[in-house]
Amino acid sequence: MNVQFDFAGRHVMVFGGTTGINLGIAQGFARSGAKLSVASRKQDNVDAAVASLGAGAFGAVADVRDEASVAAALAAAEARHGPIDVLVSGAAGNFLAEVNSMSSNAFKVVLDIDLLGSFHVVRKAWPHLRKPGASVIFISAPQAVVPMAWQAHVGAAKAGVDQLARVLALEWGPAGVRVNVISPGPIAGTEGMRRLAPQGPDGDALVRAMVPLGRMGTPDDIANLAQFLSCDAAAYMSGTVIPCDGGAQNMLTPMITAAAQQAQTH
Ligand code: COA
Ligand code: NAP
Repeated sequence: MNVQFDFAGRHVMVFGGTTGINLGIAQGFARSGAKLSVASRKQDNVDAAVASLGAGAFGAVADVRDEASVAAALAAAEARHGPIDVLVSGAAGNFLAEVNSMSSNAFKVVLDIDLLGSFHVVRKAWPHLRKPGASVIFISAPQAVVPMAWQAHVGAAKAGVDQLARVLALEWGPAGVRVNVISPGPIAGTEGMRRLAPQGPDGDALVRAMVPLGRMGTPDDIANLAQFLSCDAAAYMSGTVIPCDGGAQNMLTPMITAAAQQAQTH
């Protein structure tokens, strides 16, 4: 569902904003009248995203692991659209690997993208943010609080992202900059779900069974929350980590729900 917000004339910059959920966030803000900047590693992704965001959108190739490329993207974005009103840090990497089969570099690469990359984004963004008034949003994941096997690297990285955001809300609050975190649940049709969920109808049914609302999320669900957190209605919200997951954070196990549903039908 596409909820209408008004971000006319505001500058929104999304790191990792060229595919999937983060592109959905960028597209949501664009529909609400914002001026968009997006950045990621691959020129093809940047070009396709810019084309989908409408006239005037700005795209930069940047790897969040490389703070010089992040700084250059931010400076070029401000030169194009002015100070940044909304900054989204959503670049991430993920794969399934158990600790015993993970190299040090495999663990490190996810920490480098998700956590150190997020640090680079906010560290370099400070001079480019509109102060007071900017909204900063990190994209985290349930792995930050729920331990998941084969996800030690992601859990460690996203837990760090959550705490980075909470600290930043303390440090940047006095300047009138709000900092919040969105923790999406399973979002249909995304790279994350392709990598982490069983594929096919059985996989879809399993994922739906984990969600009290009975469906996977959509990028629009996350885009709507990002816009709510950045609009005046959320002017007193900072330092929060908000799951947007159809209630899945409270589901201990799909097994119990499936058993209860089975019992009701007998
Ligand atoms: N299992 C175990 N180790 C793995 C792995 C897997 N499935 N995939 C990668 N690795 C290891 C590599 O072997 C390498 O370790 P090594 O040097 O000891 O061999 C290390 O991780 C880095 O891999 P590399 O391919 O060089 O990294 P990259 O920088 O090119 O790519 C990734 C980063 C691996 C995170 C890549 O999957 C990516 O670019 N992901 C972005 C998209 C994404 O993950 N989206 C979902 C978001 S939820
Ligand atoms: P995705 O499509 O793979 O999005 C990742 C984006 O980050 C891409 O645009 C990618 O573009 C960019 N990126 C990757 N590494 C980068 C780097 N080093 N520097 C700059 N950009 C980089 O994945 P997604 O599934 O939509 O996930 C988006 C976000 O939501 C992630 O933060 C993820 O952890 C979170 N999340 C997803 C789900 C889900 O159900 N999918 C659930 C919970 C949380 P390039 O390849 O061009 O760099």
